[in-house]
Amino acid sequence: MKIMEIEGGKDLSGTIRISGAKNATVALIPAAILTDEEATICNIPEITDTEALCDILKELKVDVKRASESIIVNPKNMENIEIAEKFSKKLRASYYFMGALLGKYKKAVMYFPGGCSIGARPIDLHLKGFEALGATVQNEGNKYIVEAESLHGANIYLDIASVGATINIMLAAVKAEGKTVIDNAAKEPEIVNIATFLNNMGAKIVGAGTSTIKIEGVKHLGKCFHEVIPDRIEAGTYVIIGALCGTPLKIDNVIPEHIDSLLSKLEEAGVSLEVGADYVLVQKQDKYKAVNIKTAVYPGFATDLQQPFTVLQTQSTGKSKTTETIWENRFMHIPYLKDLGANISVKNQTATIIGPTKLKGCEVVATDLRAGAAMVAAGLKAEGKTTITNVEHILRGYEQIVEKLTAVGAKITIKEI
Ligand code: UD1
Repeated sequence: MKIMEIEGGKDLSGTIRISGAKNATVALIPAAILTDEEATICNIPEITDTEALCDILKELKVDVKRASESIIVNPKNMENIEIAEKFSKKLRASYYFMGALLGKYKKAVMYFPGGCSIGARPIDLHLKGFEALGATVQNEGNKYIVEAESLHGANIYLDIASVGATINIMLAAVKAEGKTVIDNAAKEPEIVNIATFLNNMGAKIVGAGTSTIKIEGVKHLGKCFHEVIPDRIEAGTYVIIGALCGTPLKIDNVIPEHIDSLLSKLEEAGVSLEVGADYVLVQKQDKYKAVNIKTAVYPGFATDLQQPFTVLQTQSTGKSKTTETIWENRFMHIPYLKDLGANISVKNQTATIIGPTKLKGCEVVATDLRAGAAMVAAGLKAEGKTTITNVEHILRGYEQIVEKLTAVGAKITIKEI
């Protein structure tokens, strides 16, 4: 088991470079099997979710070559076999193999995906989308068999603008016969990145990034070269850390537009920000105003930044409120923030934070990936030593977190115990 130890209360200064986006990478790797030739993807982050998906590719006999931050995927010897539960349960995004295998072979057999326990996380919208394209879905316990004689275009309205369902339906529809229209599609930047990747291969997708995506099916998908966009959630996490400890901290390789909602809230709180074309420079202040946030689909305030943001709210003067609207179970970090000294109460889906409160290091748990990010932010701010267990969650999504933070002055280590 790994634990993270942080000696907090240190000022952080220098530059942190943001890696490729986890939530784009985890869809691009399964999407790569759709090529009939070879796909090269660069700026792939070295996180355990990447490893878990490459393990699935190898299981399916796909040639995978890794060279520094690039990955070359060649599916010429690929076999469409069942994806075992030990692979699917490692991460949520394993479900993108459903759409990709269905699109390529008209059949996918795999188990219910894993991932953070932040809510029920059903996949009904994905499956309804596959059915609309002509597939049948059989479900035996945790196992799903999705298959079709042929796939045909369809008009699909998503009851919820789900990121996963939007991408999975795109993957299944790129080679379907005729035109698919996804209405109330999710608009997250990662979806645009996946659509660009597929279009580079020869797909015909328009409208990604808007709520209506149109896909004209094609027969062949060819060779392509693609780059993963910078991770907006990693960027946002480090900007928040900068607001807590930066003297100043430069967050580099960012698309600032992707974190607009966070930057506006930080400005409202009184954080000093300089926003460049591809960087954000953040300087901590002695006093912050209390601000309220409510999570929403993009371009609203990202649910994945809600947990780290609550740490800043513990340092703001007065009463702040955070309302979570996407996931039912995303306040699991709150008891640990309270152990660190925060004054927070949770009622239904709203946390009320009264600040400022001094944080003092103690033993806490990374209950999920972004709760873990919140623990890191709190540990860096807290006086004394914070020990975080269940660090595996954090390593699923933050490339070289210890190295990046050490380079700007943090005292942080990971130990195997
Ligand atoms: C993705 C992100 C995750 C982020 C979330 C919302 C990845 C790998 N993960 O998760 O970090 O928190 O978007 O921005 O990209 N829903 C259904 N039925 C479905 C699908 C979703 O009811 O079939 C519900 C979910 O329970 C949730 C909401 O829709 O309440 C949004 O989920 P969705 O956008 O699909 O999130 P993910 O793609 O799983």
